[in-house]
Amino acid sequence: MKLPGATVQALPTAAVPAPATADRAHLFTAGSVAHYRRVLADGIDRVAERVAATDRPFTGVTPQDLAPRIAGIDLDRPLGDTGAALDELQDVYLRDAVYFHHPRYLAHLNCPVVIPALLGEAVLSAVNSSMDTWDQSAGGTLIERRLIDWTVDRVGLGPAADGVFTSGGTQSNLQAMLLAREEAVAADGGAAARPEALSRLRVLTSAAGHFSVQKAAKLLGLAADAVVAVGTDADRRMRTDELAREIDRCRREGLRVMAVVATAGTTDFGTIDPLPQIADICAAAGVWLHVDAAYGCGLLVSPTRRHLLDGIERADSVTVDYHKSFFQPVSSSALLVRDRRVLRHATWHADYLNPARAVEQRIPNQVDKSIQTTRRFDALKLWLTLRIMGPDAVGALFDEVIDRAAAAWQLLTEDPRFEVVTRSQLSTVVFRYLPSGPGRALVDEANLYAREALAASGAALVAGTTVDGAHHLKFTLLNPETTVDDIAHVLDLIAEHAGWYVRTRTAGELSCPIR
Ligand SMILES: Cc1ncc(COP(=O)(O)O)c(C=O)c1O
Repeated sequence: MKLPGATVQALPTAAVPAPATADRAHLFTAGSVAHYRRVLADGIDRVAERVAATDRPFTGVTPQDLAPRIAGIDLDRPLGDTGAALDELQDVYLRDAVYFHHPRYLAHLNCPVVIPALLGEAVLSAVNSSMDTWDQSAGGTLIERRLIDWTVDRVGLGPAADGVFTSGGTQSNLQAMLLAREEAVAADGGAAARPEALSRLRVLTSAAGHFSVQKAAKLLGLAADAVVAVGTDADRRMRTDELAREIDRCRREGLRVMAVVATAGTTDFGTIDPLPQIADICAAAGVWLHVDAAYGCGLLVSPTRRHLLDGIERADSVTVDYHKSFFQPVSSSALLVRDRRVLRHATWHADYLNPARAVEQRIPNQVDKSIQTTRRFDALKLWLTLRIMGPDAVGALFDEVIDRAAAAWQLLTEDPRFEVVTRSQLSTVVFRYLPSGPGRALVDEANLYAREALAASGAALVAGTTVDGAHHLKFTLLNPETTVDDIAHVLDLIAEHAGWYVRTRTAGELSCPIR
């Protein structure tokens, strides 16, 4: 980059580097590109073979089976050979890994990933840019900035908006709460009043909000009761009457509401809080609105459902997790803010890295906006995804899984073996096996058992959660390859396991309740 006023003198270029010597054969340099090609091709072949051969999402391996295999490896005695190391990797990892690629992986918010992003992953780790400063990334900095601007436009945050890529929704939420805290403390008298101000800060989020909000409050030194759970309606969306009441109560008690966190896609129920009404309440009360769209952000590119996020454009900050509903490999997330000036709360100048004069010289440094220093160029994965597939194709994948969740919900409502909780706006389905007769007393145990037995068989993976204190099962559908037949088959397996448990227990044959 040519600095204003500086004359840069061209010097003669260095000679072509010598080929790698044996002890440096594994260092990726100009001299080892042939080796690099071979090794990566080998690794890609092994993964491709494994994924092609995967007939179930999990082998059901237990920690007891796997731990001795991993513990038994002498890390001080290298195998020295890529093929042997890949054979060993097959044994300690590839064979027994959990495969989100498989259509019967129905558990957590993990997506199968798109191939353009895998290409990005290979490129970004090989070039190994670090996103803190221009002099460690060059074009990477500008590519990340373009993607932040692109996402900000999709959200509709306006011309003063900005943001930064993060490692995930937890970090994005943490940074959002950090910025909101600093704005609240500044409004309450700044540094001198900080200890007293911190103890009075409150964050309001729905009872179905993500636990990372609690964690952020703890990390940020807020009071143990700083996060207030606002009640939800029958659809598990934040109740706006309760929100308004809580804001009033905090005022009356001399507490300061530092932020309201609305969730656009709750982890369990896939529901979206009423964003326009919440935005009205926050605007009237002068309270920071953070929208946690870690899950629902895929709607930003949905050809048919973007309207479900209406109101998000009024947020002060937004979390988006491309590694959930944009089909990106972990990690890939961003925090966006309406007013780029608030990012200064994450800025610290170090002479050796990002001196204040770099700002005057208008050298773009992402470290000034981030709570990380060395940082992966995760943005490249999204860049290649958009350049190869385009946003509509990504949105269509997300639309498909939302349709599939609606079909699963329909199946469950018509199936007398199960009870289904609220209908998701996204792609989760929460339900439980509900035995009739005396077996009903065993409902919690039967559902727990069914989930464990299913995982042990490896035939399918489903998640579990509690709803109003009762154990339930959960599908999180993020794989468009999952068919309605897959879902029906998994429901039959669950009913078989749970039914077996109830029959055996009521006949008094099973002494140990849960294996
Ligand atoms: C609504 C919501 N917010 C935040 C997170 C945290 O995201 P991450 O796991 O990327 O840290 C999750 C994770 O499931 C989530 O569902």
